[in-house]
Amino acid sequence: MIRLQGVSKTFPDSPRPAVDHFDLDVPTGKTCVLIGPSGCGKTTTMRMINRLIEPTSGRILVDSEPVTHADPVGLRRRIGYVIQQIGLFPHMTIAENVATVPKLLGWKPERIRARVDEMLDLVGLDPGQYRARHPRHLSGGQRQRVGVARALAADPPVMLMDEPFGAVDPIIRTKLQSEFLFILRRLRKTVILVTHDIDEAIRMGDLVAVMREGRLLQYDTPEGLLSRPTDAFVADFVGADRALKRLSLITAREVCEPVTVHSDTPTVAGSATLRDVLAALLACGADSVQVRDGNGAMLGELTLAAIRRLAVTVEPQDA
Ligand SMILES: Nc1ncnc2c1ncn2[C@@H]1O[C@H](COP(=O)(O)OP(=O)(O)OP(=O)(O)O)[C@@H](O)[C@H]1O
Ligand SMILES: [Mg+2]
Repeated sequence: MIRLQGVSKTFPDSPRPAVDHFDLDVPTGKTCVLIGPSGCGKTTTMRMINRLIEPTSGRILVDSEPVTHADPVGLRRRIGYVIQQIGLFPHMTIAENVATVPKLLGWKPERIRARVDEMLDLVGLDPGQYRARHPRHLSGGQRQRVGVARALAADPPVMLMDEPFGAVDPIIRTKLQSEFLFILRRLRKTVILVTHDIDEAIRMGDLVAVMREGRLLQYDTPEGLLSRPTDAFVADFVGADRALKRLSLITAREVCEPVTVHSDTPTVAGSATLRDVLAALLACGADSVQVRDGNGAMLGELTLAAIRRLAVTVEPQDA
């Protein structure tokens, strides 16, 4: 569990706090996404958790221990950090980059070598091919994979990831996101991830924290954020299409209803999202679909009216 209690940071010579009375609880094993406009304090918040920046006031606890009592070097070994702009060491090979923290921890060379190969495999880079290369001989996406491998190398329970997918094109980014989410969930890491991209936040986060000018505006599940934005800024930030975005969080299997009349309506898979189902309904002009599982067994049906009911969202009070 990571807990921030009334945390503020005012930089010297700065008129207003970069982070202002910020409270946040991230349960163990969950992914929390920090999102907000440029300059709202996301990186500063992250860097206070691993003590690269000291808060002006407030408390930060990692597993109930105040980080101000922890030795900063030991703390950073427990907290993997993927920095904005990747930050690989250019003169070191990929293997040396990934080995950074295990080496600091004094692991034996054989153990380090095995761990480096294991990590490169994990992020989808063939160790034989990439171990001895330098970062400049890798694509942006490959470098990002190495950044994540390096942060995971000493198996820290907590991962801080600052726009880890910022430097790659949108198609690769979506692929990397789902891959890493899968890996981090499987390894049961507690993750704080920064992004500018609301779709990324909704896809990746168990919880999403929307920040503005150093303050926390809303901390909620993706579903809560889309269906009940707390004010006009959050509503605007999540986008006018939030009803559609919300439909993409729900699968046909979860909400289909028992079939009343058998008809030859189009079929969709149980794993299809309601957004996909809606697109299918619009494309073929039908007003209901049959939902079937991978073996063709009937799960139920979904009507346009039911999807419309599920898409209802609440307007913020001040809108
Ligand atoms: N070392 C520093 N000294 C003075 N001001 C700083 C320092 N670091 C950050 N700031 C200021 O604090 C505010 C928050 O910066 P921060 O880097 O946390 O923003 P961010 O949300 O990560 O933005 P971005 O999305 O652009 O990365 C900004 O106004 C920034 O200019
Ligand atoms: Mg930043």
